[in-house]
Amino acid sequence: MINLAQSAHPKQGAGASTAEPARHTAAPSDSAVGADVLVLSDKSVIARDVVLLSLRRPDGTRLPDWTPGAHIDLVLPDGSTRQYSLCGDPRDAYEYRIAVLREADGNGGSRFVHDSLQVGDAVRFGGPRNNFRLVPADRYLFIAGGIGITPILPMLRAADALGAEWSLLYCGRDAAGMAFGNDLAEAGDGVRLHVSLLHGRADLPEWVGDFRADTKLYACGPEEFIDAIRAATTSWPRGWVRFERFTATTSSSPARTTAFEVEVDGTDQLVHVEPGVSVATALRDAGFDILTSCSRGVCGTCETRVLAGEPDHRDSILDDDERADATTFFPCVSRARTDRLTLAL
Ligand code: FES
Repeated sequence: MINLAQSAHPKQGAGASTAEPARHTAAPSDSAVGADVLVLSDKSVIARDVVLLSLRRPDGTRLPDWTPGAHIDLVLPDGSTRQYSLCGDPRDAYEYRIAVLREADGNGGSRFVHDSLQVGDAVRFGGPRNNFRLVPADRYLFIAGGIGITPILPMLRAADALGAEWSLLYCGRDAAGMAFGNDLAEAGDGVRLHVSLLHGRADLPEWVGDFRADTKLYACGPEEFIDAIRAATTSWPRGWVRFERFTATTSSSPARTTAFEVEVDGTDQLVHVEPGVSVATALRDAGFDILTSCSRGVCGTCETRVLAGEPDHRDSILDDDERADATTFFPCVSRARTDRLTLAL
């Protein structure tokens, strides 16, 4: 039974560009207090360059429910957002926990959290949303690279609660930078910590092994790490392997370079989408209310449904199965292959 102190790690920020952040107010102003505001109730360093944040409602009321794999958006002082996986206990309705890795070459989100955000400060948030849901299985393989351990932590607890068999491979460059490493080292035989400075790269194909129909694999980590896991699981059927990425994947050119139309279900309006203009922007310009956050196809805020037409998926959320279904669409980045798409907003 895993018994980690409630903890949460953030996924790496994936939001829009960020100016150097200003300090949040030490206490929420009247206008800031509301359903979309959290107050930092605790902050501690849990590994080199990793801080663990505890966040609560300013008035102490309960928070929206979440499930393992979910994330919240933190709104930075400049209005841009960063996505962080919730790593605490979903049964605690009053506290969210995230962990944030300082990104030396990041664009300011992690620096703001590390250097400026203090206990008592208010911060706006969105979500939670879950693009990385744990589906029932008899057996799970979990693989985490670095700060990618954060969405995996609540999954371990959930797998325990389900009575499922599970194993975790947690890879890091060195032990000092592996958040929750000490706790996980004591969590039983199912956990393997792999320190690459000591042992080189993990042998992912060997650890993953052959496909088993009773096993689902969940992995989170840097892009090259995910690519290596993908290469080790090419023989696995669609739907058995799920990835959570830190950042938007590098996208190739759109499938079409010409304009297309979007029909909004329930209206008689056709929205013209020019090359270089996102569907979300075109819809917004046409008067439709489209909520966006990351604007990079990472957070899931702008999710809509496709009723007709063939989408050109350019997000970093859907897996191959979901793309094949062609029903979910993220208009901040995705486009059309066909002359027309019909969307349900
Ligand atoms: S706004 Fe984040 S996925 Fe579209």
